[in-house]
Amino acid sequence: MTTPGRLEAELLDVAREAAAAAVDLIHTNRPASFGVLSKSTATDMVTEMDTASEAVIRGIIAGRRPGDTIVGEEGGEQPADPAATDRTGVTWWVDPIDGTTNYVYDHPGYNVSIAAGVAGRTLVAVVADPTHGRTYSAVRGGGARCDDVPLLLGPPPPLEEALIATGFAYDPARRGRQGEVVAKLLPQVRDIRRMGAAALDLCSVAAGRVDAYYESGLSIWDLAAGALIAEEAGARVGSIDGGPVRPDHVLATHPELFEPLRALLVELGADRV
Ligand code: IPD
Ligand code: CA
Ligand code: CA
Repeated sequence: MTTPGRLEAELLDVAREAAAAAVDLIHTNRPASFGVLSKSTATDMVTEMDTASEAVIRGIIAGRRPGDTIVGEEGGEQPADPAATDRTGVTWWVDPIDGTTNYVYDHPGYNVSIAAGVAGRTLVAVVADPTHGRTYSAVRGGGARCDDVPLLLGPPPPLEEALIATGFAYDPARRGRQGEVVAKLLPQVRDIRRMGAAALDLCSVAAGRVDAYYESGLSIWDLAAGALIAEEAGARVGSIDGGPVRPDHVLATHPELFEPLRALLVELGADRV
């Protein structure tokens, strides 16, 4: 484990500040009511608070690192400050509320997920989970933490005793196929959890709250921060098809459980949903 360099230390500090400001807005000062609209499908919601949270995060990043690029779920890819002429090569991946359905229902587990990196490689990550009062963070090569406590995976259980988290895409046909995979997986493992927030599912792998997590159909902002946190805690994060992790097919678990679980998921068709 190495001490963070100057760039990583600065990015982590900015990510923490931005996540704390977003939590203040969406959680501490949660309004009694807010507007809700549908996005890709009727079940894919965006609230006024998602948009406002992303604006707060963008404002903080732009103020401190104007030459960076920000890829946010609600605003897409944009220069942090369009007026800045010096580009730094640093990109931010922002999910202003991961778990919007939980947020709308005031159900625990929504979070603010922020990562930054260079050339597609995540260097720092912060996932703030206000309903449980925890903030996860990681620096590449510097380990993962929940608040100030270092995270390190213990030995894995056998596959048939593994507690497995997953999630479902918003497209009705795809979630139907994902449900068929889960129905076949359930009798072969300890149990299944569908908590409703991908970034936190990955942090739950890091913290040992589940033994594994898989999902297909994510986007980069769902994954960037949580994947680094899981990896830095000692998990193997890859694709269900065996390649490197990509948002469309994610599997994260202890390195010893990875291949047995991956083989089962492939047998059940999870790589083809
Ligand atoms: C969603 C959540 C959910 C996962 C979906 C994501 P959003 O993110 O992470 O758990 O199953 O695939 O899109 O839309 O709430 O930011
Ligand atoms: Ca998300
Ligand atoms: Ca979101």
